[in-house]
Amino acid sequence: MIPYQKLLLENKAWAQEKIEDDPEFFSRLSQIQTPEFLWIGCSDSRVPANEITNTQPGEIFVHRNIANLVVHTDVNLLSVLEYAVNYLKVKHVIVCGHYGCGGVKAAMTNHDFKQVLNMWLRNIKDVYRLHRQELDGITEEEKRFDRLVELNVIEQVHHLAKTSIIQRAWKRDAYPHIHGWVYSLNDGLIKPVFELNADSNIDELYKYDDL
Ligand code: CO
Repeated sequence: MIPYQKLLLENKAWAQEKIEDDPEFFSRLSQIQTPEFLWIGCSDSRVPANEITNTQPGEIFVHRNIANLVVHTDVNLLSVLEYAVNYLKVKHVIVCGHYGCGGVKAAMTNHDFKQVLNMWLRNIKDVYRLHRQELDGITEEEKRFDRLVELNVIEQVHHLAKTSIIQRAWKRDAYPHIHGWVYSLNDGLIKPVFELNADSNIDELYKYDDL
């Protein structure tokens, strides 16, 4: 069998199974989506949002990119954020990174990955530079890599809080809460590493005073 045909066959079996479990499953979901969570995760095929949180279609609104970055010029991410926060009214935004992230690892090298990837990875290099003292102090390379994965997630949570989308939502509704999580490929467990909410202090420099 051609590999992609397996996907289509599996899809038929899955749809059948869903209907057998719950005959209204698709008709209900096709009417409305009211997810409580926005997930910003890594594109890595080993970190599928629904599977690792044991959630169903309709429960998580998902955006994924290399190394789960929040880049303020990324129209794709900002559209997803705007829609999730202001139309779906999600209560939680989760940035989920993962140990062993290839994007983070690549950013720790001096290799030229060509312009487009270099541009993307530079955002992670900036996180390293911000925390250079702490990171350079970790002698074991694997531990330094793990810590950069955590710091990268924390930095992306801060980036979300710098957007007027989040600040306006905090002023209006006092949510969403923003969570920074790191998933471990080794044991399948998620470790919460950071959190910001409407009461959190953010750097004055980034605060809008006329929202
Ligand atoms: Co990754």
